[in-house]
Amino acid sequence: MEVYKIKGGKRLQGTVKVSGAKNSAVALIPASILANTPVTIEGLPEISDVLTLQSLLEDVGGIVTFENGEMTIDPSNIVSMPMPNGNVKKLRASYYLMGAMLGRFKNAVIGLPGGCHLGPRPIDQHIKGFEALGAKVTNEHGAIYLRAKELRGAKIYLDFASVGATINIMLAAVLAKGTTTIENAAKEPEIIDVATLLSNMGANIKGAGTNIIRIEGVEELHGTRHTIIPDRIEAGTFMIMAAAVGDGVTIDNVIPFHVETLTAKLREMGVEVIEEDERVIIPKAEALHSVDVKTLVYPGFPTDLQQPFSVLLTQATGTSVITDTIYSARFKQIDEIGRMNATARVEGQTGIITGPSELQAASVRATDLRAGAALVLAGLLADGETEIREIQHIERGYSSLIKKLRGIGADIRKEIITEEATVRE
Ligand code: EPU
Repeated sequence: MEVYKIKGGKRLQGTVKVSGAKNSAVALIPASILANTPVTIEGLPEISDVLTLQSLLEDVGGIVTFENGEMTIDPSNIVSMPMPNGNVKKLRASYYLMGAMLGRFKNAVIGLPGGCHLGPRPIDQHIKGFEALGAKVTNEHGAIYLRAKELRGAKIYLDFASVGATINIMLAAVLAKGTTTIENAAKEPEIIDVATLLSNMGANIKGAGTNIIRIEGVEELHGTRHTIIPDRIEAGTFMIMAAAVGDGVTIDNVIPFHVETLTAKLREMGVEVIEEDERVIIPKAEALHSVDVKTLVYPGFPTDLQQPFSVLLTQATGTSVITDTIYSARFKQIDEIGRMNATARVEGQTGIITGPSELQAASVRATDLRAGAALVLAGLLADGETEIREIQHIERGYSSLIKKLRGIGADIRKEIITEEATVRE
């Protein structure tokens, strides 16, 4: 079993470069299915979610090459084959195969998606959208069957501004007949990125990045070349780490506007943040004051940064209250940092953290992707050597994390440990 081992107490210094956005990547790759000639995507992060999607596309006839972050997908021989289980279960974003396969073939069979356990994560809004476009959707033995004679544009109001539903409906609607309107659409930068790719493939999409998106269906889509946006959550993770244990960290390849709410919260805590065109600099970790945070849909404070941010709050003087309004059970990191001497508890969808605490190294478990990032930060802060297990969750979403952190001075390494050592009291 592979684990991360981190010797805490080292100050981070230097420049770290952010990779392409995971949550764009996992939608851009399925979107390529809709083209009739090859699509090239530049700057993809080298993470296991991307590799899983590559093999899913290959399973159905896609010809895919992936080298140095550049993936070329020739979708011309893709066929509509059932994708029931196996790889589909490894990631949440496999639901984008529903919209893309339905859009291209008017039928698809996709296993229910996997991903991090953060409380219930229904896909009812995706299904409502597919049905509005004319698909019959059934759940048979753990797989979603989507069948349509034809797809026709429709007006779809989302009960919640869901990122996944917004993108999935765009994927299904770009080749539908007529106009589709998505109301109360999500506004995340990843949605604009996917709409940009689809537009460059020949789609007619207006309003991506606002809460009303209009899609005029077209007859066909062609290949193109696209550069992915930087990962704002990875950037935010490094900003939080720099605020906790930095001695001058430059985070490169960031769109500062995408991390503005984090920047505002860090400044409120007493951290100096310098924004340049495509980089953010945190000159040094300062004495921190407690703050209250509530996660919201974009442009609010991102739920994906709530977990690493909660570890930063252990270093702030006073009591901080952090509420996650997006997920009901995204606080598993709190139990783990409790083992490391943090004064933190969960009440419903709220974490209550009192600091400053001197964290102590322990053996902890990355229960999900961002909990894993939170624990890496806890390890960087703690006295002694922290061991993080179940790192496969971290590697689903952070590209070359060990290399990047070592590059700015962290003492972190990956090790294989024996089964015996895996029994935890
Ligand atoms: N929801 C529904 N019904 C739906 C869809 C969503 O009730 O049909 C609820 C969810 O249960 C959740 C909330 O709406 O409570 C947010 O869901 P959303 O659909 O916006 O999230 P998602 O598309 O499943 C993406 C990211 C997540 C990120 C959220 C919110 C991807 C692959 N995942 O998930 O990223 O937390 O948006 O910003 O894009 C991560 O990167 O660690 C991660 C979990």
